Amino acid sequence: MSDLHRPGLENVIASETAISYLDVEKEEIVIRGYDLIELAQKVTYLDIVGLLLDGVLPTLSERRDMEMRIQEAYGLTENIRSIIELLPEQANVMDSLRTGISALASYEPELDDRSQEANDRKAIRLLAKVPQIAAYAYRSKMKQPFIEPDLDLSYSANFLYMITGQIPTQLEEDIFDQSLIVYSEHEMPNSTFAARVIASTQSDLYGALTGAVASLKGTLHGGANEAVMIMLLEAGSEEKLEEHLLSKLRKRERIMGFGHRVYMNKADPRALLMKKALAELAIIKKRPELYNMCVLGEEVMFREKNLHPNLDYYAAPVYYLLGIPIDLFTPVFFAARTVGISAHVIEQHNHNRLFRPRVHYTGPRDLHPTVTES
Ligand code: ACO
Repeated sequence: MSDLHRPGLENVIASETAISYLDVEKEEIVIRGYDLIELAQKVTYLDIVGLLLDGVLPTLSERRDMEMRIQEAYGLTENIRSIIELLPEQANVMDSLRTGISALASYEPELDDRSQEANDRKAIRLLAKVPQIAAYAYRSKMKQPFIEPDLDLSYSANFLYMITGQIPTQLEEDIFDQSLIVYSEHEMPNSTFAARVIASTQSDLYGALTGAVASLKGTLHGGANEAVMIMLLEAGSEEKLEEHLLSKLRKRERIMGFGHRVYMNKADPRALLMKKALAELAIIKKRPELYNMCVLGEEVMFREKNLHPNLDYYAAPVYYLLGIPIDLFTPVFFAARTVGISAHVIEQHNHNRLFRPRVHYTGPRDLHPTVTES
């Protein structure tokens, strides 16, 4: 049995899926047959929602219909708001989001209906509620008033508006939408695996997503985007960044936003797209030094460790320039990923096999209990 042991399940095929696949050789992120990067340049986040949930890109009228169904599902009940408000000021927004999604389950009329149709309806409701909970949790923590959704705005523009209170420009909306697309789905990261493991017991979508939030919070996964921004701000300037990184590396610290279990020593195609977005945004926002600083960090890390940036490295400064508070970077990542994880839970429910692996036992054997005096 022990020769089957792969620490961290590295390179282990855990599932069959028709949703997505990282073709590292061809540097392509395959999403239901399409290349994620091409999708991000040609369609909107809501098209990706349709593609992930229904298996095909929606027509314009199907997309409008889906948008209407999401809009109908907006709204947080007093109870959900009160639960979030009860959390202390120091609560991490990912923890509030986890609590909020968990609480929502108790109000879900189709909670235990695991049919494809019911799961699709729940996923649409979650696509409305998750961004609202994230925005609400942050604003409640900061004692800022809640911003009701603006139904005249697109899904992405409204999400940004509920966070910042400002109606985004077309460029800001496009870049944010693109970031949601590149965050929407990525094969079998820890959070998706966690959700599939939970779903495999015939547990519900909300429970699977609640577990996935906890997984995605960690800095080796989604939490890295917040850690990247904190590191860039700590470094302070392009001049100081190199020494900042070198001193961390001397202490054998991990540099957030670099490396990836699957890409290993290859570039993350999503990071390249967000790098382009940052270049554009940095000019418009008159913050070219932030872009230059990030590029320098990339060069230092390649020279010192042969490591490439992952998506979080460039998404972080993009979100910063879009005016998103750092505490919301990882919740936004989760909100974008809600659809991908939901698609995986639905697939797991449709073709289920309980996850129940074995262990390579390294503890003692043949002990016998004896009662001692003291
Ligand atoms: N900084 C410094 N060294 C690193 C980093 C890093 N970010 N990533 C990997 N390494 C080094 C390791 O120290 C190790 O070196 P060694 O062999 O000399 O000890 C070598 O590269 C291999 O690292 P592993 O830990 O085996 O790689 P693993 O596949 O487990 O790690 C991970 C992948 C967790 C993403 C890692 O690269 C990391 O910690 N990165 C920083 C956190 C991060 O950015 N996470 C976001 C992931 S992407 C996402 O969620 C969108």
